[in-house]
Parts: sequence; C-alpha cells; structure tokens
Amino acid sequence: MDEVIKTADGTETLFNKEFKEAYHSIKAGAYVESLHKFINPCRIKELAVKNDYIKILDVGFGLGYNVAVAIKEAVKVNPNVKLAIVSIEKDKNIFEKIKKINISEDLKSIYELMFKGKFYKEKIGNETFDIYKVSSENFDLKIIFGEGRKIIKNLPDNLQFDAVFYDPFSPKVNTEMWTLDLFKEVKRLISKEGILATYSASLAVRKGLLEAGFKIGLVEPVGRKSYSTVASLKGDIPPLTEKEKNRLENSPYAVPYRDNKDLSLSREEIKQSWEDRVKERIKFKV
Ligand SMILES: C[S@@+](CC[C@H](N)C(=O)[O-])C[C@H]1O[C@@H](n2cnc3c(N)ncnc32)[C@H](O)[C@@H]1O
Repeated sequence: MDEVIKTADGTETLFNKEFKEAYHSIKAGAYVESLHKFINPCRIKELAVKNDYIKILDVGFGLGYNVAVAIKEAVKVNPNVKLAIVSIEKDKNIFEKIKKINISEDLKSIYELMFKGKFYKEKIGNETFDIYKVSSENFDLKIIFGEGRKIIKNLPDNLQFDAVFYDPFSPKVNTEMWTLDLFKEVKRLISKEGILATYSASLAVRKGLLEAGFKIGLVEPVGRKSYSTVASLKGDIPPLTEKEKNRLENSPYAVPYRDNKDLSLSREEIKQSWEDRVKERIKFKV
C-alpha cells in the first residue's frame, strides 16, 4: 500500500510504489507545490478576475491537489467563475488513495464536492474510455482514465485550454509522458495565450517543449534549487536566463525524449534512445 507522508507545509501526500516516487515535493509541501509550480505560473487568479469560464487540462490528476487548489484560488477572486477541467489519470484506484490522506481544512469542502461524481464510459476520438464526471456551481470536472498518451492523442483540437497542469511523475521514471512527440499533441490542445506549467527542470523536457513549438520560461524555485518551467505559444511568460539559454544550446543532455508516430514505444525504449543520443553528443562534444 502507498505510504502516507507529511510534507513541509503540513499537508499530506503518498509515496507511489509503482513509480517509487512521492506524488508531491516533500520539501516544498503538497499544497505549496500546487500553488507555486502550477496554479500561480498558469495565472489562474488573473484568468478568473477577467473571465467567468476557464478551461484547464490537468495531466496526472493524482491526489487532486492541483485541481482543488485551482478551484479554491479562482473562486476567491471570482465567486461566479466556472472551471471546466479535463483531467487525465491512469490509476482507477486513485479515489481510494485520496481517502488515505488527511485533506487540509481549507480544501475539504472542495474535495467533498469532487467526490460526488459518477463513473461512465465515453467514446473520445477513436477510443472508449472510463470517465468520472462531477459538476458543481464553480467547476465541471471530467477525469478520463487510461494511458495518458492515448487520451491526449484522442482529444479534439477545439478544446483550446487556457492552462495545462503538466504533472506526471519524473521524466526518469515516467519517460513516456515527457516526449517531444507528446508535447506536439499538447500544443494542438492549448490556446494561443494558454500557459503550460510543470515542476520539471529537465533539459530534455525543456528542449522537447521548444522543439514542439512552445516558447519556455522559468519559475522561481520552491523547496529546491532548480527553477520549474512554463511554456506557451504566444502567452506572457517570464524569460529564460542567459545561463539556461546557453545550457539548452550547448549541453549534451539538451536533447528531447522521442516516441514513435503512434506514441506507443515503451518507457525503456524511449529512455534507451535518449541515452544513446546523449552518449553520441558527449563523444562528439556537441
Ligand atoms: C505526480 S502525480 C500527480 C499529482 C497531482 N497532479 C496532484 O495534484 O495531486 C502523477 C500522476 O500521473 C499519473 N500518470 C503517470 N503516468 C501516466 C500515464 N502514462 N497516463 C496517465 N496518467 C499517468 C500517475 O498515476 C499519478 O497519479
């Protein structure tokens, strides 16, 4: 069973046995991580001040913190706001896991609402998926269960999300979710001004986002030294430092993870081909 961990800000997370990683940064705190690496960089509050309707793609629903904190922050500044959230998650037992952790008082009412949904099946694109759906005054949440790459590939172009919370486990253990080929699919789904936020500081991830056609920027670190990453097609994001531009141009590690056309390579194949390309670059001192 996944072990409960108390994080730095007092909120709880779990250790995932399959991926051998915690769902959140223990040093930053689950709540603080959500707020500082996802909700603030995606400017959810600013969006809610200006709009009554915000569309969010949440990659890796996990314990639901990013979704719950987004709802809380948006409602704070606009009680009439409606968040249309599409979440992606492979683990159908995720609600059982959430029930193991103590939810902080200020998020409890949101979680109670999130638990009131229903399961059904729906055809999206060419595939049928298990869906969990719940609607409330301030949010419509649809969790699509299945393999993230397959779900993203089947989502229609017209969704045009204002924000993307990109939060799978780390590229080392969850490599298939961090490829250039998948970022190209995400690009299809985000609006021109939309912002994607991720905790990852990996050069391979940043290079993948760049080669997929995003511009990228850095977000102040919390609970560690590395800056996290934001990406957008045309939206207003903080700039890259000269040091980071230099690393992205010259480091042998700055090559994207690659999948095949169908997004069906195994995690090991994706990792191996990346390592082979890095080795070549080190040999020829790119
Ligand atoms: C770091 S956790 C997400 C934490 C979550 N965003 C939160 O706020 O609590 C990563 C999640 O991504 C899911 N995941 C990993 N690989 C996936 C895949 N290939 N397809 C769909 N979901 C995946 C995991 O099951 C896990 O729940």
